[in-house]
Amino acid sequence: MDGAVACCPLAVGAPRGYPPAMGIHDRDPSTWRVRDPGAHAHAVRAMFARISGVYDGMNRLLSFGLDGRWRAIAAGRLDRDVETVLDLCAGTGDLARACRAAGRGRVWLAADFTPEMLQRGRRRRGTDGLHWLAADGLCLPLRDDSVDAVVVGFGVRNLADVRAGLREIRRVLRAGGQLVVLDFFRDDPAAAGDARGAPAAVRTLVARLVPLAGRLVGRDHAAYSYLPGSASRFLTPAEFAALLQECGYDDVVLARLTCGVAHVVSAHSRQKM
Ligand SMILES: C[S@@+](CC[C@H](N)C(=O)[O-])C[C@H]1O[C@@H](n2cnc3c(N)ncnc32)[C@H](O)[C@@H]1O
Repeated sequence: MDGAVACCPLAVGAPRGYPPAMGIHDRDPSTWRVRDPGAHAHAVRAMFARISGVYDGMNRLLSFGLDGRWRAIAAGRLDRDVETVLDLCAGTGDLARACRAAGRGRVWLAADFTPEMLQRGRRRRGTDGLHWLAADGLCLPLRDDSVDAVVVGFGVRNLADVRAGLREIRRVLRAGGQLVVLDFFRDDPAAAGDARGAPAAVRTLVARLVPLAGRLVGRDHAAYSYLPGSASRFLTPAEFAALLQECGYDDVVLARLTCGVAHVVSAHSRQKM
């Protein structure tokens, strides 16, 4: 773990207090980078280390079991002929498992920069056959053009620098390789079609219910306030689609899940020069 992370400048942030002020997750809308990448990465890793024991159960509870369905839809978006699939920000490996269950891929790598999440994943039933990789998504210890597809479930929103993350993913993807992202995006009330978010009443419910359940069940109010807070600081689906094109991806397709609560975005890496 340390070797993989140590190569990345984002890993060297001075330790800060926890819980973090939400301000350290604020993004500059001209770059989509957080203002202090070191502090952000440190806080995100500390947060997932703390909740690693309850993470999977809380997902089921907070999404009323829908998270499994969302991952199955995301996995089903992968091209049928992909061989090597990298699940980035894999946590305990749920999305890699969904890819395997959907018959997408033959080799699955599950990469994450929080050792506690990876350890939890390794111990879970049904994750044998997955290859676990301790690595920062902004500085992957993988060769150029080495994977056919990258899937990221609820992870892109955590990257300190979204543009740098998309470029790093493209570096390891072979030309024509596929990226599938499942996440919660910022709402754009003016958006149409699949770029639309959830109705205001649903968003308000999520913003209130998730931190409350996090405090009562997960015993970590700050961590579960981070979810709605980070989504509201993230890109809208349309902004994310535009950023993908800017970062070298084509065939961008957005799909709205459960009334726009979540979105799945698929794209292919453009030919590299
Ligand atoms: C919300 S969890 C998602 C886990 C899993 N993909 C899922 O579908 O449930 C986000 C994960 O991203 C990881 N993460 C955040 N930033 C990362 C980075 N820069 N590099 C690698 N992993 C990162 C966290 O450690 C955490 O395990």
